Amino acid sequence: MKSTTRRHFLALATSTLAGAAVAGCSTGGSGNTSSGSAPSKPLPPLNESRALVTYFSVPETDDPNNMSDDEENSTHVVDGKVLGNTQHVAQIISERTGAEMFRIETAEELPLDHETLENLALEQQEANARPKLKSPIPDLEKYDTVFIGYPIWWYELPMPMHTFLEQNDFSGKNIVLFSTHGGNRLSGTVETITDKLADSNVISNALTISRDDMDDAEDEVVKWLDGLD
Ligand SMILES: Cc1cc2nc3c(=O)[nH]c(=O)nc-3n(C[C@H](O)[C@H](O)[C@H](O)COP(=O)(O)O)c2cc1C
Repeated sequence: MKSTTRRHFLALATSTLAGAAVAGCSTGGSGNTSSGSAPSKPLPPLNESRALVTYFSVPETDDPNNMSDDEENSTHVVDGKVLGNTQHVAQIISERTGAEMFRIETAEELPLDHETLENLALEQQEANARPKLKSPIPDLEKYDTVFIGYPIWWYELPMPMHTFLEQNDFSGKNIVLFSTHGGNRLSGTVETITDKLADSNVISNALTISRDDMDDAEDEVVKWLDGLD
């Protein structure tokens, strides 16, 4: 990793938090996006829709005991089981909507050491890489609404998400986005995905939840889902 880039990320994350504190608002919770793209069409009622929840998430440990700060930051423990933050949000969405779930995984296992993962993520971003994925979504034609969830990596979509968005045909589908982050909220990713999926109806009301607010994720998701219909 370039130390200047690393310093930049840390400084920006800190200033985002400081800015939010000054403004008296939280960096957590859900948020409407202010996309410059054309407004999305309304989402059909979710209970009448055939929906799938897809997500990319990298919990940095599977051991609920004696976690380091980095491991705690990337996980949420439910009933003794370690989940990634985005995975946790995906599960809540699935439970609340009855939608099936699909986990986006890279063909090569990702390193779980935080710094090694950061370095790899940055290298992939700088190389505009398309890391290979383990498997495609089975039967994507079955669904008319696809939730897509991801963490923010280096202010952007993780590069495996680009592979995912490019190798599946989402045309004509309603796309609903959710994300977890460490201070940078959606960080322009809704605009990126809206541009990429020009033939889909990408709903502009995306959910973003801070990794520090995972205890409140259920309430946030319920509020957000209510506002989608
Ligand atoms: C490689 C890497 C890069 C990250 N870069 C950012 C970033 O630029 N901005 C931010 O707000 N959070 C950043 N984070 C924090 C994650 O977005 C946050 O911890 C997220 O909740 C992780 O989700 P997961 O547990 O589902 O993988 C980064 C985390 C990793 C591992």
